[in-house]
Amino acid sequence: MTIGIDKIAFYTPNYVLDLVTLAKARGDEPDKYTIGIGQNRQTVVPNFEDVVTMGANAAIKIITADDREKIDLIIFATESGIDNSKSSALYMQTLLELSEFVRTIELKQACYAGTYGLMQARDYVATHPGRRVLVVASDIARYGLSTSGEVTQGAGAIAMIVSEAPKIVSINTDSVYMSRNVSDFWRPVDRQEALVDGHLSTDIYKEMFLTLWQRYQLKTNQQLNDFAGFAFHLPYTKMGKKALDQIINEATLAHQQKLTHHLKASQKFNREVGNLYTGSVYLSLLSLLSYATDLKSGDKLAIFSYGSGAEAELYSVTLQNGFENHVPAKMTQQLLLKRQLVSVNQYETMFKSQLYDSHININSNAVKDTKLFQFLGWHNGERV
Ligand code: HMG
Repeated sequence: MTIGIDKIAFYTPNYVLDLVTLAKARGDEPDKYTIGIGQNRQTVVPNFEDVVTMGANAAIKIITADDREKIDLIIFATESGIDNSKSSALYMQTLLELSEFVRTIELKQACYAGTYGLMQARDYVATHPGRRVLVVASDIARYGLSTSGEVTQGAGAIAMIVSEAPKIVSINTDSVYMSRNVSDFWRPVDRQEALVDGHLSTDIYKEMFLTLWQRYQLKTNQQLNDFAGFAFHLPYTKMGKKALDQIINEATLAHQQKLTHHLKASQKFNREVGNLYTGSVYLSLLSLLSYATDLKSGDKLAIFSYGSGAEAELYSVTLQNGFENHVPAKMTQQLLLKRQLVSVNQYETMFKSQLYDSHININSNAVKDTKLFQFLGWHNGERV
């Protein structure tokens, strides 16, 4: 049975900060942000949105009446959840008016949890033919004003429906994975912002990618030339380049050019949004599928998922016949284009008010589906 991603959608809030403007405000060289780190803009989250509403706004774009009947399980991956007990998936079930006869669960292991969710979904469908799973990966990446991580903030949600005979990619059963207890990035329960050793985290990411790439080759006998492209977890887009640079010489010269070209395609959306933790690697996959127009069905892509702390997984997906007709490229491009630019002052006010301790006037046009937000008790940007 072929199982994989049948549908995918992305949502990010309507406000965006230009990083050249931020660099100037922080006294940094703009090239450091746009070239050295590889980010152009980052999403800014208003105080009436959270991981649940972002996840619901992503999922609502893809759920059909048929899915409602066939979804048995909602898996919600996040490291910025809104409750320490109740799962975000349970709120999603209500917001999306899904059946009561579903399982709902929230998963956590930094940015890696979305991938574990996808693997669980695949295994569930394998043992329950005809049934489907909704996987949502939704996060707000917060480091703090004027911190070195600030340029890598961002937010958004990816929603995917996993089914048999998928329309976009099949998920191959060739994963290699590893876990190692490292203090590169973490967030104690009483803190709103992550604690991070940025350079250590970059080193561990690179090392785990190289280790898993070697392990993958031993396990599968695949070579770099067997892959049409990579989708990396992209906390910032330069991270993907740093990882791929370690192995790119293993490919033939012509193939090196193809991989480099496809890496750029995979970074485009992430450059405009910033880090979205659990969803980041799947936004990169969506970006690759949206911009690499020379990809064809049967091509194999490698997916590298990394979550600080640290856990990583490398596996492959195969493009399905007609996949290009089911990739929401234009919809995603338009979502990013229509966002409203905010000044550094506005961003700072929104950043502080995100914790719900104060309120600012937000244009309620930002709310795509007021029904969803009103459910959570928000009205005109105020908690009611
Ligand atoms: P930093 O110390 O501000 O920056 O931290 P830097 O001094 O290392 O410079 C960054 C790059 O810009 C360097 O390039 C400079 O040379 C270059 P590199 O050597 O790295 O190739 N540069 C310039 N380039 C052009 N023109 C210039 C210029 N000046 C400097 N004028 C850091 C940067 C990313 C570490 C920081 O922003 C940070 O801590 N970010 C958060 C942590 C992070 O994103 N880590 C990534 C790996 S961990 C991960 O992916 C997991 C995560 O998503 C969390 C989770 O799993 O939940 C984060």
